Order: sequence, then C-alpha cells, then structure tokens
Amino acid sequence: MEPRLGIEVAALLPGWLSLLLWFSALSCSVSSPASLSPSLVPQVRTSNNFGRAFLSLDKCNACIGTSICKKFFKEEIRFDNWLASHPELPLDYLPSYPANYSDDSKTWRPVEISRLVSKHQNEISDRRICASAALPKTCSIERVLRKTVRFQKWLQAKRLTPDLVQIFPGAEGWPLPKYLGSCGRFLVSTSTSPLHEFYGAPPDQAADLAYQLLRVLESLRSNDLNYFLYFTRVDATMFGILNNGHLFIRDASALGVIDKQEGSQAATRARENKDIFSCLVTGCQAELSSCDTIPEKQSLVLVCQQVLPQLLQGKFSSPVQEQIDVLLAKCGEGVQPDPEVLRAASQLKDILRPLRTCDPRFAYRYPDCKYNDKF
Ligand SMILES: *[C@@H]1O[C@H](CO)[C@@H](O)[C@H](O)[C@H]1NC(C)=O
Repeated sequence: MEPRLGIEVAALLPGWLSLLLWFSALSCSVSSPASLSPSLVPQVRTSNNFGRAFLSLDKCNACIGTSICKKFFKEEIRFDNWLASHPELPLDYLPSYPANYSDDSKTWRPVEISRLVSKHQNEISDRRICASAALPKTCSIERVLRKTVRFQKWLQAKRLTPDLVQIFPGAEGWPLPKYLGSCGRFLVSTSTSPLHEFYGAPPDQAADLAYQLLRVLESLRSNDLNYFLYFTRVDATMFGILNNGHLFIRDASALGVIDKQEGSQAATRARENKDIFSCLVTGCQAELSSCDTIPEKQSLVLVCQQVLPQLLQGKFSSPVQEQIDVLLAKCGEGVQPDPEVLRAASQLKDILRPLRTCDPRFAYRYPDCKYNDKF
C-alpha cells in the first residue's frame, strides 16, 4: 500500500507536549513542520562522533523542537561502544542508532537517535530546496528556509502557536516514546526494544503486548482530538517496548494523519499554504488525495496480517488458540468491510484481556492491576 497522505509524526515537544508534524507531502490535513531553533549551530569539535556534517546542522530543515545539540557536543550523548562493535556499517546509513545519554557523565541510560526521514529522502528535499531558490545543489539549506515567509513568522513569534505550526495540542497520552530533543536531522528519544524481539515471549506477555497494540490502534482511530491516524505500512520494528512493559510506536515514519474536523476544507487551505516546506519529499506537483480513500480498518488489517500472528501463534491452549486464530484471520482480511474487521479486533481484545497477568513484569500497570481490573 502506498502512502497517501504525506504527513509524518515527528516528535513530541516537551513543555508543549505537542505532537509535531513533519511534512513529506502535503495532503488533506493542514499542518507544517515546526523548525524554531534559530541559534542552533555552535562550533563542533571534529573529533566528536557526531560531527557537524553527520548531524546535518547546516541543513536545519529538521531541527525542530528542543535543541539537544549541546549534549552531543559535551559528549553526554554517545554511541562509541556500539559503533566500535559495528565497524562495517557506514555511519550515514541507518535510520536510527542506539546510544547512551547522561546528565552528569556518570550515570548513563540507553536512548535512540533517529532520523526524521531517510538520508535519501533528505537528499531529495535538499535538492528541491536549493532549486526553489534557483541555487546550485550545494546551497545553504538553512539560509533558503530562513528566507521563507513561514520561517520568518516562526522567528518573530514568542511562542509556537497552533496556527503557526499546527501541532497536536495536548499530546499527552499519544503512544510515542518520550522525546528528549533534536539536533540537526536527528531526534533523540528513550530507548525501546522492537516488538519482534518478543515473538517468543510467554503467553501472558504476548497477550499483554497484543492487547496494548490493539489499544494503540484504537486510540489512533478515535480520540478526543478528532484526528484519525493510520499506518501506511506496518512491521514489527515499528513498535517498541520500554523496560516497564509499555508498548509504543517507535517509528512513526509510516503514520498518516487526517484531521477529521478540518475535513475537505483543509485541502483548499493546504493548497493556499503551499511553500517549499510542503514540497520537500514528494514535490509540489503531487496531487492532494482525498481523506476518504483511507478506510478505518487499514491499520488493523495490516497489524493482523503482519505482526499479531507471529506474536500470538501456538501460544495458548485449545480452544482459546483456535478462537484467536479465527479472529486474527478475519481481522487481517482486507476485503472485509470496516465493521467486520473492527468487530473481529474488538472480540480479539476481549479474549486477550483476561490472558494478561498482573505481576511486576508489567510495571507500567503494576501494582494498579492488583486493585483495579481497569488495568
Ligand atoms: C552504553 O553503555 C553501556 C555501559 O557502559 C555499554 O555496554 C553499551 O555498549 C553502550 N551503548 C552504546 C550504544 O554505546
């Protein structure tokens, strides 16, 4: 399935606790990338792993949210150990890197450093940005973006308000790992283990993870804020588990967003707001697609096909396993109408719920689960 809407959820702004949207192609929702970090380009010692070029500090079209550059320069974010054990990997190649983070250079905790979009996509957008200003392809990205009306508005604003960057207000509770900050084209977030590492988990843990995953999809589909978020593709590396057992979306690059309130007027407004920020990845010629082309069942079908079978197969005794298998098959059947898929997923959730146990392995809901069966 091809991405239809090109908005990717990029980061949570601490303080604002707001969900930021990064445009890869403008579609039927009105949002734009926030990039308010005017004084982000300090001198970098070339001996650092994260040199200026690697972080793409001069590029700036992803330097959004809170700057965490200082921590890189003070070497309070490191991944040298990991790097030393993977000498074969070119530094520029991966979408994300494991690293260690410290506030006092004594105690370290694992974090993840990820690109907003792939290096290749960045290169395409760089070329577009330079071309938009009729400059050669090695132009200063930051200089071009700073000259845009949109960036000037951000620089003049005391606060980023929703009309300036269209962010998700009050994003607390969105199922994304804690965002610590960004620098250049990378953002730093708390570290999670990818879901596929749990395929061999014991039944109660598998039930817990599958249940959480279904809940996450439910919250993306219907929430108080009237956004409909959906996956354009799904695999097990896109979901991650914190060491307290809590499941998150660790890779939001395939997440599309529809603002249900804005609906169709949004497409018109989006067209009016079009500038180089809107054209970074797919180009300005890309046609706006209709919000109605994304069925409600989309993410569920993908997850029931690609992730849940591996997590839940052969784990439970008869007849529970058979019931699970039947519902999984129904939920993963793309030709079923929305209500059928949604009903199968809901029945699956009801079966999984009591299969979860209440013990300290699930610290994200323990000990609450001892006293309240809501958890
Ligand atoms: C983080 O630190 C631990 C302990 O020093 C080390 O074993 C690990 O390899 C480090 N991780 C990275 C990504 O460098």
